[in-house]
Amino acid sequence: GREGDRVATTGADRRAAPTRADLLDDLLGPGGRLVVVSNRGPVTFERDDAAPGALTATRGSGGLVTALGELGRHAPVTWVAAAMTDGDRDAGAALAPRGKARTRRHVETLIDEALPGQDMDLRYESIPPDVFDGYYGKLSNPFLWFVQHQMYASVYGPNVDAELMDAWRSYEAANRLLAEAAADAAGPGRPVVLLQDYHLYVAAARIRELRPDATILHFTHIPWPAASQWQLIPQRIRRGICEGLLAADIVGLQTDRYASHFLDTVASFVADARVEADSRNVRWRGRRVRVRSYPISVDPDGLVAFAGSEAVTQQVERFRERLARAGSPRVIVRADRLEPSKNALRGYLAFEALLLRRPDLRATVRFVAVQAATRTDIAEYAAYGAAVREVVARINGMGDPDEQPVWLYDGSDYATAIAALRLADVVLVNPIVDGMNLVAKEAVLVAERDPALILSETAGAAEQMASATITVAPADVVGTAAALERGLEMPRDERRRRVADLRRSVRHEDLDWWLTRQLRDLVAVRAGVRPPSRRLRDAMRRGEREAGG
Ligand code: F6P
Repeated sequence: GREGDRVATTGADRRAAPTRADLLDDLLGPGGRLVVVSNRGPVTFERDDAAPGALTATRGSGGLVTALGELGRHAPVTWVAAAMTDGDRDAGAALAPRGKARTRRHVETLIDEALPGQDMDLRYESIPPDVFDGYYGKLSNPFLWFVQHQMYASVYGPNVDAELMDAWRSYEAANRLLAEAAADAAGPGRPVVLLQDYHLYVAAARIRELRPDATILHFTHIPWPAASQWQLIPQRIRRGICEGLLAADIVGLQTDRYASHFLDTVASFVADARVEADSRNVRWRGRRVRVRSYPISVDPDGLVAFAGSEAVTQQVERFRERLARAGSPRVIVRADRLEPSKNALRGYLAFEALLLRRPDLRATVRFVAVQAATRTDIAEYAAYGAAVREVVARINGMGDPDEQPVWLYDGSDYATAIAALRLADVVLVNPIVDGMNLVAKEAVLVAERDPALILSETAGAAEQMASATITVAPADVVGTAAALERGLEMPRDERRRRVADLRRSVRHEDLDWWLTRQLRDLVAVRAGVRPPSRRLRDAMRRGEREAGG
């Protein structure tokens, strides 16, 4: 059963527990490297306006990069990503085998500065702009993102029209390009490829074609909804996605619930797949595909070091001064992208409801919201951002900025977000649905005031953290207001106990744990499987032709 899985894992860890180094050795051999493939790379390059020909580099944003941006501390990694900016394209060209030596050195220095202490090679693959737009701007976002976060009001969307079907073909094309880049970057030896997220559902088959001896794990960072959600969209796309994933050896999801949903989706839409629900395997075209949950996390030591850095400490001082001017109120914090699935709007409505019921709190509480604008060219996001600003303006009314109940900060700077989390008394994490949500995990690691953590039941993180948090149903504005009040009133002792519990669990089930469990399962795949036979490859090609690929 599901719980059984988790318990068995811990038991096995205690008994034999090969170390990460053993597992890496086993898998990669001397000098071998893990190949990670994702859409967004860990570093975003921009052309430097001040110095023609030069680039600047910043760390990429979002949960995937937050977690995997530290992976090079735990394993030797070659990371293949799509070039998303002109700067990425320049960097990609410089890092390619025939790139100019001088630019290459410049780019490598920037990478070392952005990812210090890591063994990480980067490749940025340029995808033709029209293909990239269909793949990223139309199919991955908003379409897949909206389907998987249940964000469509299905009366109005999605409309799978001719344009979206074109975007699906671009999605397939972009996946091929990234798969080919990965097969190429893998170097000699039997590659171990870790494909990341919803942008790359159909990349595994192409890698397998080029590198039949590859061992492939695909990990989905976002939720996997129930089969009934997928039923809304054409069989061609949903089956394409499922079969694309079944070309991997292991399909990894954030939680047990999402793994069950995936198995059920395959059983519903892939006619020739046999799902073995108890062992969480799928038999498909002569192969066994393992479906497993690997809840992702952060690198605690890296994060704690960053929280203590000069950049964060300066921000903390700024917050402290402003709080002192406001009479040292208690602080509710939220820190996330201004992404509709994060449910900020209902968070503010709940805070407003609380202030109306408890006017006394106006003097003693501030809501510090660090929100990063995202995907502003998608109409729904622009509208959502406007709705948030309107509600915040209503709550703040007029008056002295320090007296306003909501302090809204631009969260594009990661240091500001971490600084706010350091000072929180209550942290509100109330997404409508979330693959994992790393803010919840970051908050307990960096907090100084033992904050009460309010967490949506529908965040993946709730599977690990719910017992020590105040849980809310995401649509429950009344309940969220009550949760905020309860958080503010929770005795310090109880908060301390809860944070200590959460901290222990986050430290135990950390990024290294996430990686090590995957390595262990990859070793098991290798042990049980000979390189794919001729017959298997032929079967896969036949399958592709039948699917119209
Ligand atoms: O976990 C989901 C995720 O990969 C996040 O890391 C990231 O925030 C998002 O999806 C993708 O965002 P973007 O399109 O900005 O890379």
